[in-house]
This record gives sequence, C-alpha cells and structure tokens, in this order.
Amino acid sequence: MLSAVQIKPDVYWVGALDWNAREFHGYTTEAGITYNAYLIMDEKVTLIDTAKITFVDELVQRISSVIDPSKIDVLIANHVEMDHSGSTPRIRELAPNCQIYCSAPQGVKNMTAHYGDLGYNGVKTGDTLCIGKRTLAFVQTPMVHWPDNMVTYDAYDKILFSNDAFGQHFASSARFDDENDMCEVMHQAHKYYANIVQPYRAQAAAAVKAVRGLGPDALDLICPAHGVIWRSYVEDILRAYEGFVSGELQERAVVVYDSMWHSTEQIARALVDGFLAAGIPAQLMDLKENHISNVMDVFMDCKYVCVGSPTLNSQMLPTVASFLTYMKGLSPKNGDRVGLAFGSYGWAPLGPNNVGKELETAGFKLPEKTFAVNWIPSEEQLTEARDLVARLVAAE
Ligand code: FEO
Repeated sequence: MLSAVQIKPDVYWVGALDWNAREFHGYTTEAGITYNAYLIMDEKVTLIDTAKITFVDELVQRISSVIDPSKIDVLIANHVEMDHSGSTPRIRELAPNCQIYCSAPQGVKNMTAHYGDLGYNGVKTGDTLCIGKRTLAFVQTPMVHWPDNMVTYDAYDKILFSNDAFGQHFASSARFDDENDMCEVMHQAHKYYANIVQPYRAQAAAAVKAVRGLGPDALDLICPAHGVIWRSYVEDILRAYEGFVSGELQERAVVVYDSMWHSTEQIARALVDGFLAAGIPAQLMDLKENHISNVMDVFMDCKYVCVGSPTLNSQMLPTVASFLTYMKGLSPKNGDRVGLAFGSYGWAPLGPNNVGKELETAGFKLPEKTFAVNWIPSEEQLTEARDLVARLVAAE
C-alpha cells in the first residue's frame, strides 16, 4: 500500500506521481508530473486538492495510510482544472459529509459545470476557515491559472498551499526541494512558468506580492500542486518568480527555424555565428528537433529572437506557423525584444515575409527588414547575415 509523506506534524503529502506523463496540453513533460494533494489532521480532517481521476486510487491509498477517507470533513479545491479536482466526486462518495470549499463565484460555477452541484461553499480573499488549532485563510489568485484559482494559507504551520503557482512538472521520489537536483527543479519551474503561467504574468505578479505581504517569517513551506515542496529554496523560487513576471530579458539570442533543403538552415547558422562574434550567447533550435514548449523555455529570456522559414506553397512551413501561434498565445512581453525574420525561397519570398508580419503583430522591435535569400545562400549572403546581426547588436 502506498504511504503518505509527513511534511509537518499532522500535515501529509497524499498526492500521486505520474512518472510516465510526457505531455500536458501541448507541453512536453520529459520529467513526468506530480499531482500534489495535502492532508491536515486537525479537529476537522482537511484535504487540500485531489488528483487527476486516473490517479484516484493512489490518492485514496495515501490518505488511507493516515486515516479512513470517510473521516474527511473538509475538501478545499484551490483550482478546478481536472488535474487537481478530478477525484472530487470520488472523495465525496467516500466522505459524504465533507464540505467542499472553492473560490466564489468562479470556483463554484466551474466545479458545478464539471461535477454537478455537490453543495460548494464559495470563499473569497480574506475569508477564513477554522479547522481546530488551525485557521486557514483564502486568497483568490484568478488566472494563475484559471479564473477559479485560489491559494490557501495555514499560519499555524506556516504553509502556503499555492496550487499551480510555483509548480514544476517533475516527478521524483523525494518530496522536498533540497532532496532533489535543484538545477533540474529550477529549470522545470522556469519551463512551467514559460508555458503555463506566462500569459497571466500580471496576475502572477499580484500573487507573488501577496505572498511577500505575509512577511519574511511567515513561510516555512510553499506546497504547490505540482512538483517539489519548497522548503530550503523558498526565497529562491520567490525571487525567480519576481524575475519571471518582470519580463526582464537577458543579452542572449535564439535562432528558431525549419528548413527544406538546408538553405534556411545555413542562414540560421550564420546568424548564430554573428551573435557569437558579437559576444551574445546564442542557441540554434530546429523546429523539427525541438518541441515548441522547449523553444518557449529558451525564448522567454532572450532579447534577440530570429525566426526563419522557407516558402512552401506560398506560406511558411507549418512547423514555424505552429511555433508562432503557440508563442503568440503565451503573450510574452515582446516590446523590448529584437526580432528578425529570415528564410529562403524559390520563386516568391512569402514564407519569410509572413514570418516578419507575425513578428510585427506579436510586438517585436524589427530594426532590420526580413532577410530572404533566393534558392541557396552564397558566401557573400551568409557574410551579409553575420553583418546584419552585428548591426542589430550594435544598435541596442
Ligand atoms: Fe495544474 Fe491549471 O492545473
């Protein structure tokens, strides 16, 4: 039987490990996923979040290692997305008298849409719930990641149950940050923000500010709904988020492209050479080999972004269109980002030109016109591409 993990006296992790998950709505999860749920043993036995329905047996087994699930008095649903609320009906079946709390009005509305009327108690920022020795405080964090999100703060244990905020898609046998490879954990936190939270950076900034407002001694643990529990690196993840939400860019470049007969690729390589010659670290990312969610992980911090496509049937290649659509949906703060469209063509430069239009629509600074080469780039044209990069960098 699976066991709970005690994270504080009378507080347990009772979540599930999805070791083999490799995709989460279009985002590659090479390190798997965790669905974290937490059990507080107080006068009212309280479960915070559940798990994806396919992991309900794992959740119930871990709860059962501490207490009979029928004894659960309170279920707090910090977020309605089914990776966290999916096992709610099963918990209600096992504990018919448990009271369910979620945010008002969106949480109540969305829980009802997903699971029918289970008699939800709507709570708002500032509302509290006494469960015995502990009084839990609710703070609504709409759009981090859905309109219904909220976080729950337990002042007695100094724990913030933050749901999607501060999460990482990362499955591990160790529950705490300091028991894991922190380079990998911080990388996964960065990728998670880039692909999940980034469109809602204003709301994420407000959430981080609210956490800071609790005071420097108010947090022993941040317990997200995905990934490791922050214990030794609480300040590090808060600072990382403050950097993420600022949209601050680094003097780095990424050259993203797809190619048919290597002409666009030759230009891409010349552009990377140009950045390196100018002292700017640069990364080459072929969209045939790099998933768009990994490209966005790199893209998020780069001041310089070059996007290349040849022309195919009067359009850019579908891989490049897919990347640009995904990028625009994540609404990165592009106003300070320097863009460049490039590519090759046979009889009309429509592919590279359409990339340029997309970058313009996405708000990039475009100081140089689209660099389009007919058929195969000559040595002179590749030198021109390197020189173009030198001008871009010198102008900044
Ligand atoms: Fe982890 Fe928005 O769900």
